[in-house]
Amino acid sequence: MFVLAHLSDPHLAPLPTPHPLELAGKRLGGFINWQCNRRHFHLASVLDRIVADLKAQAPDHIAVTGDLINLSLAGEYAPARAWLERLGQPQQVTVVPGNHDTYVGSKAQRPQLEWADYMRGDPPTGAARPEFPFVRRRGPAALIGLSTAVPTPPFRATGWLGDAQLTQLVNLLDELGRAGLFRVVLIHHPPVTRPQWHDRRLIDGEAFVAALKRHGAELVLHGHEHLDLVRWFETPHHQVAAVGVPSASGTIGEKYDAAAYNLYSIEGSRGAWRCEMVARGLSADGDCIIERKRSVLLGG
Ligand SMILES: [Fe+2]
Ligand SMILES: [Fe+2]
Repeated sequence: MFVLAHLSDPHLAPLPTPHPLELAGKRLGGFINWQCNRRHFHLASVLDRIVADLKAQAPDHIAVTGDLINLSLAGEYAPARAWLERLGQPQQVTVVPGNHDTYVGSKAQRPQLEWADYMRGDPPTGAARPEFPFVRRRGPAALIGLSTAVPTPPFRATGWLGDAQLTQLVNLLDELGRAGLFRVVLIHHPPVTRPQWHDRRLIDGEAFVAALKRHGAELVLHGHEHLDLVRWFETPHHQVAAVGVPSASGTIGEKYDAAAYNLYSIEGSRGAWRCEMVARGLSADGDCIIERKRSVLLGG
């Protein structure tokens, strides 16, 4: 049995003090939001407890689906790198970026530069920067890393895959499916988001869903919503679950689900996969980390 852990959106705190010039433009609103709201929700102490509990479960691999940081300040990337190194070695941890990791245009490529070895496919291509999609094979699983992280105007948190990634994704889903691997798609934005005044959608989500439905996958893992979510999509051979996990640093609050991570136990082979999910997170009183739910996503 292969056990994959998934956590997302740590939004690492504390936020370093920004240089005044860094607050020009979109970051100013984000900084005010951090100071007034988000710093009271995303707590380093909560994240530490989630990571300690996750490590105690000794998963075979860990997936992190973006929003490691908050405003893409120059001073946020190195602490995020150090946090990743405490989480695990690059061979044991796979990262895809989120919109807060590329918050402004000048930092659009920064996650690939700073966290490169956590985003490289195998075997490495020799490219200076990781490219998306990438594939890592771990046990029976093929982890397909996508990037939806693009800088956006103020008050938008949208994501974008683009035609090139979608075309490569379709080919990979076919190829890895033929090879009999358990295909896990890692993506920051959920495939579908309900309409909100604050646009948070994956803009080309429809094309992404069409690719999943037509070419199949065994599991889709995402973050971004800071909620415990499961959506199902029909594929040629089975239904695939797209599972969203709450922020790994979120304390008890009203708007979002409190911190959690998911463990996926994967066994079997093509046509006979079994995948069980266990969600572990903060208890209702915030005192400890408990098992919140257990469900079978694939197989009997
Ligand atoms: Fe987030
Ligand atoms: Fe996000």
